[in-house]
Amino acid sequence: MSVNIAIDGPAGAGKSTIAKRLAEQLGFIYVDTGAMYRAMAYYFLTEQIDAADEAKIGAACPGADVTIAYENGEQQVLLNGKNVNGVIRAEEVGNMASVVSAYPAVRAKLVELQRQLAAKSDVIMDGRDIGTCVLPDAQVKIYLTASSATRAKRRFDELTAKGTVCDLAAIERDIIDRDYRDMHRETSPLKQAEDAVLVDSSKMDIDEVVDAIYQIYREAV
Ligand code: DC
Repeated sequence: MSVNIAIDGPAGAGKSTIAKRLAEQLGFIYVDTGAMYRAMAYYFLTEQIDAADEAKIGAACPGADVTIAYENGEQQVLLNGKNVNGVIRAEEVGNMASVVSAYPAVRAKLVELQRQLAAKSDVIMDGRDIGTCVLPDAQVKIYLTASSATRAKRRFDELTAKGTVCDLAAIERDIIDRDYRDMHRETSPLKQAEDAVLVDSSKMDIDEVVDAIYQIYREAV
């Protein structure tokens, strides 16, 4: 039976950085489920479908075939056979993903793919509903969070380092809005699973978080 580690938490908590590092350390496959929702969102944006029109989004779902592949250990998301990794990180795509991921038609499609991946390999999967819905039997469940101010500052530093001019207050507002939507939707809202361990990374650096989760894994498996 494969070993599954679920990491859930709000936007910008460091889930992907931590999960990637742990996957490397443990020889597991890293599955970034947010990237799959982003690929669907990118499809709806290019098709110019209104995010608020749930019926239209549902009807368009069969036209978006999302699959994943691995290149040098890095997850690549393919949308209708085309690699979209380079275009799904934009804020616009993230916000669209947060809106359309509330629709059951969008979720149903991706949850199935995520379960198939976890059944055939040892995975570290990150997202919003992995411990609560996608992999309820995961051997290790982590809820990774940090204050919105810390998360906004990390995002601000990341963008500034890339030379992007941005506004810290606007980033924090965006994060708070995104959290609200992800936590208050009806289908699979973001919440800590009852059996998940809470890790608050507000005052921890990456190495400390990786070590903390590694210890939790060692004790559980
Ligand atoms: O982790 P991220 O920022 O790449 O995710 C983008 C959006 O996708 C997020 O705001 C909510 C949605 N999402 C989800 O609903 N369920 C998941 N398992 C992962 C992401």
